[in-house]
Amino acid sequence: MKKIFVLVSLFCVNNLSAQNTIVLNADKGKDIINKNIYGHFAEHLGHCIYGGFYIGDSNKTIPHKDGVRLDVIEALKKLKVPVLRWPGGCFADTYHWKDGVGPKKERPSMLNVWWGNVKEDNSFGTNEFLNMCELLGAEPYLSGNVGSGTPQELSDWIKYTTHPNGSSPMTDFRQKNGRPNPWHVKYWGLGNEAWGCGGNMKVEYYANVYRQYATFMTNWNNSDRIYRIASGASDADYHWTEVLMKELPAGMFDALGLHHYSVINWSKKGSATNFSEEEYFTTMKRALQMEELVTRHSAIMDKYDPQKKKHLAVDEWGGWYDVEPGTNGAFLFQQNTMRDAVLAGATLNIFNNHCDRVKMANLAQIINVLQAVILTKEEKLVLTPTYHVMEMYNVHQDATMLPVEVTSNKYILGKDTLTTIWASASKDKNGATHISLVNADAKQAQNVSININGASYKTVSGRILTSDKMQNYNSFENPNKIAPASYGGAQLNGSKLSLNIPPFSVVVLELK
Ligand code: AHR
Repeated sequence: MKKIFVLVSLFCVNNLSAQNTIVLNADKGKDIINKNIYGHFAEHLGHCIYGGFYIGDSNKTIPHKDGVRLDVIEALKKLKVPVLRWPGGCFADTYHWKDGVGPKKERPSMLNVWWGNVKEDNSFGTNEFLNMCELLGAEPYLSGNVGSGTPQELSDWIKYTTHPNGSSPMTDFRQKNGRPNPWHVKYWGLGNEAWGCGGNMKVEYYANVYRQYATFMTNWNNSDRIYRIASGASDADYHWTEVLMKELPAGMFDALGLHHYSVINWSKKGSATNFSEEEYFTTMKRALQMEELVTRHSAIMDKYDPQKKKHLAVDEWGGWYDVEPGTNGAFLFQQNTMRDAVLAGATLNIFNNHCDRVKMANLAQIINVLQAVILTKEEKLVLTPTYHVMEMYNVHQDATMLPVEVTSNKYILGKDTLTTIWASASKDKNGATHISLVNADAKQAQNVSININGASYKTVSGRILTSDKMQNYNSFENPNKIAPASYGGAQLNGSKLSLNIPPFSVVVLELK
């Protein structure tokens, strides 16, 4: 009898460890998942702008509006891109916006010193970018040049883009360039990576420079106040956040940035497609560090701003690998596999769960650069696995976050472990609840049991992004290898929901 009891206990323990559990607190929603968490980033780098978005207004083979590819716009509209950061990146602190306005023939050319010393002819500038944002239905986020610009230049840019017609020489200049009325430009960055390519400043120095620039960033229309974002920390540089919170006057900023890339090793990043399980594990470890980063940067901000009036904008994030063989090393063109889908799904769950402080995030970068959602090659266009995750997750945009408590198995590789299940949930304006789940385990499918508190649902449906190899990707030759499929694997039984998620897969459930 005793023997049987021991065996049953062992069976239960094993079974318990094989079962991941989630408590969904459906009645505890408080914070809104700001749609800007699903933001993007476009830099004058490689073929993000030229050959990505912009093919020139004389192109006869690819349908476009004023040189902007219409197939790209159509695909991005399905993502509901809320905000788009531009023109960099490192490029932003070398960019002088007046070079990029006025008749194209008269615009000066320059060398893009950060990204391959290629010629930048300034044919895509402020008017082109802001008109494109209007076409896309996305809010622009302009990254100002603090590294090599002047406060006057930035102040003029604000006047040129946002001030009412006829209010200054800058608005007359705008009218002369074919745009009488201002655009809507709320989001402004004051420099990029001020600790690095934006000027190699110490944070104490940058805080002073920030105060100087911010003083001259005026907007006269109070109902349309600008939102100022300070160049934030790199990864775990908590000192940077601490000093900015201490030194920047509360009325002079709205958010601090944060940049974090998932890189195996900066001197040996590894192939984007041909990678081992060890490399997958390391990439995921770097990506999942985002949980600790947002928690600890937020905790510092809490000391100075317990009411969370100041936000965290993770304005660059994503996976970074070696460029594709045969491509320009400075163009950062990489393929995108199921590893990237898992990375994106888990990271977005982290942002959703921290939506009380994280109000914006910008995946790097939107087209043809780093963890892109779209790849282009002449007239061809590929939607990457990351695109599909962004599309599946857009149900969370502006929905009320529902807290989840996740008890997860461990994904073990050698002596190291990772949390396997990453989840977040929200309730949208129509009353539907969505739960997004990621299984980060490279080998094992995972059973997940969700206990629902505070709501009862009649139906569950779902979508899944999965593939038989984590190295799989969508190519120009086979663009639909990976695409979301409908998922009927979730069983709803009263207040319990059970499902099984294949390895390295992403699932989004809808409960009604
Ligand atoms: O996204 C590529 C580069 O990475 C950006 O220009 C820079 O801000 C970061 O270091």
